[in-house]
Amino acid sequence: MIMNDCEKETNAEGNPHVPDLSKITTIEDLRVIAKRRVPRMFYDYADSGSWTEGTYRANESDFQKIKLRQRVAVNMQGRSTATTMIGQPVSMPVAIAPTGMTGMQHADGEILGAKAAKAFGVPFTLSTMSICSLEDIAESTDRHPFWFQLYVMKDRDFIERLIERAKAANCSALQLTLDLQVLGQRHKDIKNGLTAPPKPTLANLINLATKPGWCMGMLGTKRRSFGNIVGHAKNVGDLSSLSSWTAEQFDPTLSWADVEWIKKLWGGKLILKGIMDVEDARLAASSGADALIVSNHGGRQLDGAQSSIEALPAIAEAVGTEIEVWMDGGIRSGQDVLKARALGARGTMIGRSFLYALGAYGEAGVTRALEILHRELDITMAFCGRTQIDQVDSSILLPGTF
Ligand code: GLV
Repeated sequence: MIMNDCEKETNAEGNPHVPDLSKITTIEDLRVIAKRRVPRMFYDYADSGSWTEGTYRANESDFQKIKLRQRVAVNMQGRSTATTMIGQPVSMPVAIAPTGMTGMQHADGEILGAKAAKAFGVPFTLSTMSICSLEDIAESTDRHPFWFQLYVMKDRDFIERLIERAKAANCSALQLTLDLQVLGQRHKDIKNGLTAPPKPTLANLINLATKPGWCMGMLGTKRRSFGNIVGHAKNVGDLSSLSSWTAEQFDPTLSWADVEWIKKLWGGKLILKGIMDVEDARLAASSGADALIVSNHGGRQLDGAQSSIEALPAIAEAVGTEIEVWMDGGIRSGQDVLKARALGARGTMIGRSFLYALGAYGEAGVTRALEILHRELDITMAFCGRTQIDQVDSSILLPGTF
């Protein structure tokens, strides 16, 4: 692949020099470019799992074991991947997952992701630990509805204010993450000394000198730290470091009673993220939430847990008629989206596929990633003899392979 690192990508202000990405045909292409363009500590932050990274790798590789049934001589005209997630129309069953420090993969990253998602007709989720704030997203997308992901912290006044801010920003669903009371250890983050913004150490300066596009972008934005938190939370200690902030602020006592409390405070659509066990899925369904996400946090928390795609069928079978079941973890192609859908996921979420695209080419990269996934999903669905995503179920899969 011939690709020039100096090609301009879009920025939040709408750079007119949109690069020609027609030769970018896979999510892997975007990962390779992102690795070149994004400073090492942030690329590593995105592209790593906890401890041995076994669960992180299984998320991707377990998709390969599942085989599709090819059908022929079926009328494949008039196809549609459009459906709904929690009753909201989507052009395909894919939403952008909440990812921490996204605005460090690319300047104004969350704004660019939200704009690309809006144009493509898929939901965008802003992380609590984002660089751009709730207000930044609302302002730069003309108050188009987006989703907000919440971590429960010890400072409950701060949580109440954050929920009010999400309402004011026109968020149409709240995603409550349940699997991060403590942080899984990611070795690379420790070794790289991950902070936002990076500290001016010799190693960082040498690495940054090789990323001129990224540096220019960062010099052109004022958004370089945690936008939802700075200036809003009291007694903030070492906020620049995600791991010390988590240890200090995240509430290790989080329980189902807190889920009830958040549900009442929010009063709108609620999605519970981080469910990997059938018993927890039953509790999630009885909590009255609108959707749950089968997720092991991209293999970044409990190393040794099942892959998300492996955990999905039992959970969908147990509670799929009571609550919408979605999944994330390991989705790198439209084929993966189709397999997840066949195994009972009404929706899927992409984290790394989004981050690679953003790090590679900003907004244009995210649009390209969505185009790639959509095209793969549409064509693969046709090969399986289905024309509507809502007709897809486990009968498109080869028995014995899932
Ligand atoms: C935070 O959500 C992380 O996984 O780093």
